[in-house]
Order: sequence, then structure tokens, then C-alpha cells
Amino acid sequence: MRLKYTTSVLLGALSLGGIAACSGPADIDQTPLANQKVVPDYWPHIESEVKQSKDTETQVKKLLAGMTLEQKVAQLIQPEIRDISVADMRRYGFGSYLNGGGAFPDNNKHASVQDWIDLAEALYQASVDDSLDGSTIPTMWGTDAVHGHNNVIGATLFPHNIGLGAANNPQLIEKIADATAKEVAATGIDWIFAPTVAVTRDDRWGRTYEAYSEDPEIVRDYAYAIVKGLQGRDDNFLSQHKVLSTVKHFVGDGGTQGGDDQGNNLASEQELYEIHAQGYVGGLRAGAQSVMASFNSWHGKKLHGSEYLLTKVLKERMGFDGFVVGDWNGHGQISGCSNDNCPAAINAGLDVFMVPTNAWKPLLENTVNQVREGVIPLSRLNDAVSRVLRVKLRAGLFNKPSPANRPLAGDSTLIGHPEHRQIARQAVRASLVLLKNKGQLLPLDPNQHILVAGDGADNIGKQSGGWTITWQGTGNKNTDFPGGTSIYGGISEAVNAAGGKAELSVDGSFSQTPDVAIVVFGEEPYAEGNGDLANLEYQRGNKRDLALLRKLKQQNIPVVSVFLSGRPMWVNPELNASDAFVAAWLPGSEGQGVADVLLADNEGNIRYDFNGKLSFSWPATPEQATVNIGDDDYQPLLPYGFGLRYGEKNILSDTLDESVDADSSELEPLALLENAIRAPWSMSIGTAQNQTAVTSAVMTAGPVKMRTMDRFVQEDARSIIFDGSASGQVRIGAPFPQDLRSYLERSGALSMDILVQNKPTKAVILGMDCGPDCGAGVDITEQLQSMPADKWQTLSIGLACFRDAQELAGVFSPFILTSKGTASLSLSKISIRPDVESPSIKCGNPGP
Ligand code: BGC
Ligand code: BGC
Repeated sequence: MRLKYTTSVLLGALSLGGIAACSGPADIDQTPLANQKVVPDYWPHIESEVKQSKDTETQVKKLLAGMTLEQKVAQLIQPEIRDISVADMRRYGFGSYLNGGGAFPDNNKHASVQDWIDLAEALYQASVDDSLDGSTIPTMWGTDAVHGHNNVIGATLFPHNIGLGAANNPQLIEKIADATAKEVAATGIDWIFAPTVAVTRDDRWGRTYEAYSEDPEIVRDYAYAIVKGLQGRDDNFLSQHKVLSTVKHFVGDGGTQGGDDQGNNLASEQELYEIHAQGYVGGLRAGAQSVMASFNSWHGKKLHGSEYLLTKVLKERMGFDGFVVGDWNGHGQISGCSNDNCPAAINAGLDVFMVPTNAWKPLLENTVNQVREGVIPLSRLNDAVSRVLRVKLRAGLFNKPSPANRPLAGDSTLIGHPEHRQIARQAVRASLVLLKNKGQLLPLDPNQHILVAGDGADNIGKQSGGWTITWQGTGNKNTDFPGGTSIYGGISEAVNAAGGKAELSVDGSFSQTPDVAIVVFGEEPYAEGNGDLANLEYQRGNKRDLALLRKLKQQNIPVVSVFLSGRPMWVNPELNASDAFVAAWLPGSEGQGVADVLLADNEGNIRYDFNGKLSFSWPATPEQATVNIGDDDYQPLLPYGFGLRYGEKNILSDTLDESVDADSSELEPLALLENAIRAPWSMSIGTAQNQTAVTSAVMTAGPVKMRTMDRFVQEDARSIIFDGSASGQVRIGAPFPQDLRSYLERSGALSMDILVQNKPTKAVILGMDCGPDCGAGVDITEQLQSMPADKWQTLSIGLACFRDAQELAGVFSPFILTSKGTASLSLSKISIRPDVESPSIKCGNPGP
């Protein structure tokens, strides 16, 4: 597509509202509660089913006695595969390493099983090579296989935890964990950062779907089952078909104020135990060998620095004898700490630093010095190392063959194995919750003409949610899921077999009136804080899916809604516009499970009944984010445990209250990059003629190199390098145009934060695109050149400067950065904002 740039005159000066570099929110005041020294009686001792053995303890002591200080500290350092080389491993002998969400061998999203094995083998061999560091202690690899081995192409993707909670079936959970362990073992990986045992009390939290329930009971039982499934029972304990597990995130992650990710939990201590810690009761009893410290605070104190909770409660009272691993640079958020310097975490009881980015090296050096200087007591270091060694011995790491030579290693048939897919399909069936079934519309006769509509119908990425190949679960296509099936795929298979007709039509149009429509729609994928919401209203301000449902209803077509979401949401208008409504959560790669339940057989017999029951209360208003079973004034739309079975009486009318607070019509900033690239936008890089969609965290296309980076939280910024070999271009755009006129009228601006690392050598133009021969651009070279190096600055450009883009009525790309020269800069917080009275670049905005 060609762009017409009219370079506008630059008016106004750059506002240098400098933003201090910051490693995260600082701790706020610590209350006496958190300082408390005596552990109350209700915290129990948990009798782990994995017992200490004399033999192991003797070996731990022996190993420890032979280690140098550097070797010991190396056991506590866990870097990430994007930041270390095999040579680093040989030189330092890290105790463990990880791949973050969406990190693959060689940054190749389509890495083969053999590529994973090769990397595991190379890093393992380097760890046991004592030529440089004198150590032969094997390293271990941890990964987030949180709904199947979700970073690996072709793996079985199980429903996310929220759906499994609705299934309420611990035996099924253990089977899922067993299958996941095998797929992970096939890639040479030793350890999984799961289960998440958060008990979500505020459904605005972006990690709600990682939790099984708002109620601690299911979480406690599941934690036990999944740990058994991952680590194995009895003779099978940590056998070569099994992996280590991590119960996470200790503790209180699901109970932060406002549902803020990484926020502050204000529960009383007893509630902390009775609600938020129940997963540890189940998980530790089952013998989980590691616990991950949480990003959240409790009464203002970050968990990573809480000696009380990590040491006194978890280790001393509960009796946990494995190790505590940190979360992604979580230690850097403790007040007084940074990513590369944090004795306070080790002193509080953290045993392993998860330290992605290049902070690992200074952190290692600083930690060594701090032990030398006595800032970290040697006894604490020895305890931490002993815990890591104990777990490694229990996992048989010293005796097992190297990763490439283990029994399941490299067996690509295990990845997406038919038996695993069967279990996943069963789990999909079991997780579906029927909320509405007017006139017993469901089950459907398969031998009819069924329209399958909605943008979730044939979209395996969307039905799988976050933590799916990429961290955010965005940027995937159906071809990224070999062996997987979309929901439409499953329906069409069953309907065709029965002699009916299934017609896919995302926008609901058709040539011949269908007998019934199944509309699959819901939330776009997200992970962690990027999923945090202000309230639970579905599609506030843009009810596109509701319009689709209504359009079908108006044509007298019965409508079955299949709702994909990571949490219960306020969907009263959508419920009213549906004859039947199914909460399908985030079912994963085996979409046939939906058809199994929705469609009867040819004789009209039910094939599978609905068994799913809400493990989260369903809200009656957008504001009911904290309605939980057991509340005094409990008035959800549908209670915890609700779920119709076939033949049961429908209870929801078509006239549920649809009113919302008036202020929802306010003009809110339109975020393009706010922590993540926000739906419906996506980013692409390359040249003006040849753009490549950004589908992973590190990418190069033509003259542009892009890498995600951490500013305030993980991956909230993008670092961009123009190499000058051709005219490079970075775009953020959407497939359909956005009308920005209301922002233009309200003195709007395109605003972003920029960090200039290498100043541009040629002109840098920021533009917008509104279709063929329609666009506008602003020269921002001077602003970039005058920015102080390595300091984040806010740059805002009045929308009036982009007027030539046809008054901004239909903008496909509101952000196009172009340069022929070299430059390296980082971007975060890109948005279109109303009411920017003095933008850095102003172009005679009319009006006030
Ligand atoms: C991201 C992190 C995130 C992690 C989760 C990574 O790719 O960079 O920010 O926490 O995935 O594993
Ligand atoms: C998440 C953890 C995850 C870790 C490693 C973090 O961002 O909070 O749940 O295990 O990344 O990927």
C-alpha cells in the first residue's frame, strides 16, 4: 500500500516530561500485621508425601562441602534462554534456566522437537563441563506448560484452568498433568511452572483464567491432583516420564485490590490462609518440589521480600523443604532492590532468582560479594543451595542420562499425541457450562443447515487464550496449530457426518437462511496484567458481537451463543439476544469437544450432556467483579455451582437488565501499546512494501529489528533498530478502519513514550494511513535528536497534524514510523488521547 506523506511543519517544542527509569512499584508502608513474628496456629504443618531420605541429605551435605562460593551462587541464578549462550552456561554453571512465554530455541516459533532437545542437551552438557567453573552439577530447564506444553508448536492444548475448574474432576486433572509431563519430557525439559493455585476473588484480574475457582476447595483438591500427575506417584515419582512442578504464586495473587495484577492484597492473615493458601495445602502434601514467590504484596510488602511468609510460614511452619523460586525479576520490585542487586530477597527466603534480561551477570557478581561481605549470611546461602540440590537429587538429575538420551527425548509423536488430544477433548466437554437453553433449543439436530458465525468460530488462537505459543497468545494463525481443531472444525465434522450442512460465516451473512446459528465470540487473548479490566462489561463501547446476535435474531434464526472468555463477564445484552448460551471458557486446541455436547446424534439422542458447573459466580452487573460464594449479600446473576443439564428448566428470561452506568460513554484513551499491543491492533515491521506481522518477542524483517523489553512490567516496551540498509517501517494497524474524529475534535494527540538509544542518522517520519492514497506524516527527527540518551521521554503529536488523512474518519494504521537511516529507540505507552492541551508537536487545532 502506498502512502502519501505531507510533512507538516513542526510547531511547538518537545515537552521533556522526563520519566525516571524505574524497576517497578516500590513497597508501600508495612503494617504491623506483616511484621508479626509469631505464626498463628491456623497455619498448619503440612505432611509432605515426599519424605526426606537420609541418603539424599547426606549427599546434599557432601556436594555442598565441595562447592566454591561462586558455584553456590550460580545455583541460585536462573537466566532466560534469550539472554544466555552455551558458553555462558559453561562458564557459570547456572543452577537452572527458563524459557519465558513465547521464547523458543533460536527465537524460532516453529522450532522442532529436535531443536528443543538440542538446546536442552547443549546447555546440560555445558553445565556438567567443569573446565571453566569447576562444577559438574547438572542444570535444569523450567517452562510454563500451563495448559499443555503451550510454547511448542503441535502440542496438545488443554482448556485453561478456569474451564477445568468448571469440570470439577480431580481424576481428569491428574490425567491432564500426566499427558503434559510426557509432552514436556519429550522436549528434554525438567520442570514446569504450574499449577497456578490462585483463588481469584476479583474477576477483573487478567489472570482469572489461570485460576480454577473463586473457592479454595476446588483449588486445594486440584493442586494435589496436578502435582501428582506432573511429578508422579510412588515408584513413578520423578521417573523419566515425569517433571518437577511449581505451586504458584505464593501467596495472595488472586486477592489483590481492584484485581490488579502484581497488586496489593489486604486480606487478614486468617483469610490469607483460608482462601489464598489452600492450594499450598494440597500441593505441598502431594510433594510439590518448588513454590514460586508472587509478584503481589501483602499489606504493602512484596512477597519476594517477605521473610515472614516465605521463611516463617512456608518453610518453618508448613515444613516446605523444596526451594522457592522467584518470578520474572520479581526481586527487583522489592524496595531497595533492583533486578541486578537484591540481597533482601535471599535473606527473606527466596532460593532461586528468576532473572531474565542481562541482569543475571551483575546479580550473580553482586550476590557473591554480598555473601563475602556478610550481607547475606553464609548459612542462608547454604540453606538455599541445599534446597536446590535436594530437589535435583530427588529428580534423579545426577543419575539420569542427559536430556537427549532420556527415554522420551525427541519422541515427536508425543507432542499432540492422539491419546492426549482425547483427554483434552474430554476436558473441553466437561468444562462447558450451559447458562441458558430456552425452549430446550439444545441439543441441536446435526442433520440441518447450521450457520457457524463469529470471529471465534474458526480461530484456534482465540479459543486457546493467552499462554499459547506466544506469551499473550496473540499473533497465531490456525496453521500454527497442526493437529488442532477449531470449534467450527468440530461442528462441521459432526454435521457433515450426519448429512447436514455447516456453513462458516464470520459476519453472519448467508445465501440461504439457516435453521439455526451457532455464534462463537468472546475475549481476545491476553496474559497477566494485560488482561486487567476496569469492570466486567463485555465489549464496552463497541458491541460488535451483540449486533451480530441481534441481526440473526431479527431474521428469526434461533441463536446459540458459545462464549469464549477468561472469566465470567457481564453479558446481559448478549444473553437476551441468545436462545441458548454456553460459557466455553478457553477450551484449547481440541475444538471438537464443543460439538460433542451441542449436537445430538442422528436419532436425536444426547451424545454428551452438560456437566460443567460454574466455579466462579456470574455477575449481574458490570461492577460485580468481587461477588463470591459465601458473601453475606450474595446476588450474582447465576450462582457458583450453576450449570443446566439437558432437559432442565431454563431460568434466564430474555429481558435481563441491560442498563449500564452513563459514564461508560466517556471518550477514553485508545491504547495501541499499553503493556501489550492492544486488540484490535497488531504490529508489523519491514519496509513500506513488505511488512511482516510481529508474531514473536524477537524478530527481524528487512531493515528493522524488533525485540520486546521490560520497562515497568514484563514486555511493556518494544525496542526497535533501523539498520539503514533500506527504508524501514514499523506499523501498528488493524484490519478495519477506526474513526478518530471524536479525538480530533477533542484536541486529541498521538502520544508515546520513547527512549532513544542511538540517534537517527536520517529523517524519521511518523504517519497515519487511511487506505490507498490516503495518509499523513509528521517529521519527528528533530525531537528524537534532541532527546537525552537513555532517558524515557513523552512525545505527543496533535492529531490535527495528521488531518490530511481525510480528517481521520477511517484510519487503518494510526502509527507508522519510517526511516531510511539508522536509529535505535524503544517505545512504550502508545495511545490516542483526548484533551492534550499542549502536545509536543501542535498543528493549529481548532476549538478550545
Ligand atoms: C515475557 C515475560 C513473561 C514471560 C512469562 C516472557 O516472554 O517476556 O514478560 O513474564 O514470558 O513467561
Ligand atoms: C509469570 C509466571 C511465569 C514466569 C515465567 C511470569 O511473568 O508471572 O507465572 O511462570 O513469568 O515465565
